[in-house]
Amino acid sequence: MLAVEENVSLKNYNTFGIDVRARYLAHICSTKDLVQLLHTEPYRSLPRLILGGGSNILFTGDFDGIIIKNELAGLQAEPHNAHQVMIRVASGENWHQLVAWCVSKGYGGIENLSLIPGTVGAAPMQNIGAYGVELSETLHTVEAMELATGKLRVFTKEECELGYRESIFKHKLKDKYFITAVNLLLTDTNRTSHYECRTHYGDIRKYLDSKGVKTPTIADVSHAVIAIRKSKLPDPKELGNAGSFFKNPVIDEAHFKKILSDYPEVPHYQQSDGTYKIPAAWLIEQCGWKGKRIGNTGSHARQALVLVNYGGATGTEIFLLAEQIRCTVQERFNILLQPEVNIY
Ligand code: EPU
Repeated sequence: MLAVEENVSLKNYNTFGIDVRARYLAHICSTKDLVQLLHTEPYRSLPRLILGGGSNILFTGDFDGIIIKNELAGLQAEPHNAHQVMIRVASGENWHQLVAWCVSKGYGGIENLSLIPGTVGAAPMQNIGAYGVELSETLHTVEAMELATGKLRVFTKEECELGYRESIFKHKLKDKYFITAVNLLLTDTNRTSHYECRTHYGDIRKYLDSKGVKTPTIADVSHAVIAIRKSKLPDPKELGNAGSFFKNPVIDEAHFKKILSDYPEVPHYQQSDGTYKIPAAWLIEQCGWKGKRIGNTGSHARQALVLVNYGGATGTEIFLLAEQIRCTVQERFNILLQPEVNIY
């Protein structure tokens, strides 16, 4: 049965903890619920917003429409070939619980993505990535329902047009499809010894070395990522935040050389096309924002890229802080940071 609430506070539905209200909130527990919602007045003609875990969103005001809260559940694993397993997981499942389950079963490929908040459905939306791994490496297909027609469609990985925190669902098909399930192709480490854990991201190797782990298992890598994330990133349950607020910018070589001559220590990652990715956290820190608090908001003391709600902040306050940060980074480095968080 489709459950729709009216005039709902969204405070517990976004990890920034912003207290705005939605006219309606529908709990979608099956694709039938979704079809019913799409055919029923007044819901069918209202502005819509699909919400997963609310961990990558900033509300700057009330939402005068219907929030479609994804609560689809279910998980199946089937052998795919001699050493791979296909995982089909409903999009409303919690991402980290999926990772933890895969790690416990010995299914490798997403352990570096441990502890990322949010739901499974949000993972392909923005091609989540962390500690040297992106979802694109294990994603097989995405199942989704077209909102206009109620038709189900399977997207191949290529059709998802994944990029750095990007997909077709954020652009060409924005608000057009509701992702219902995600299929991942993982390595069954119980059935092969040919699986190499990805430990090249600096902090992982450092952590494993400090624990004397020479040949890490996927569980070791997962533990390392969890420990690193906990040491840097504030827990949204304690301090409202949505992870990285901006994307790491990519600049051309001439621009990079100019910054390098002024700041020889600038951290950077050269891209295959000769451009350079610069950590936004470093740019923000250079501009003096790290750990700085303005009213109820601020840039986090251990990770400058994470903007936080110290309690009672409005979305507009956080948005204005983000704009000030953007302006100072633009003035100092001639780089205009792009939000990673979706702003409504
Ligand atoms: N740095 C600073 N100051 C800081 C923090 C970092 O100068 O306060 C510099 C350091 O040089 C550091 C570098 O930035 O080596 C990179 O920092 P970190 O490893 O913490 O990663 P990030 O680039 O800031 C990205 C993702 C995170 C992901 C981490 C780890 C983006 C926008 N963010 O952050 O993803 O967890 O790498 O892989 O790409 C998210 O998307 O919400 C998110 C948290």
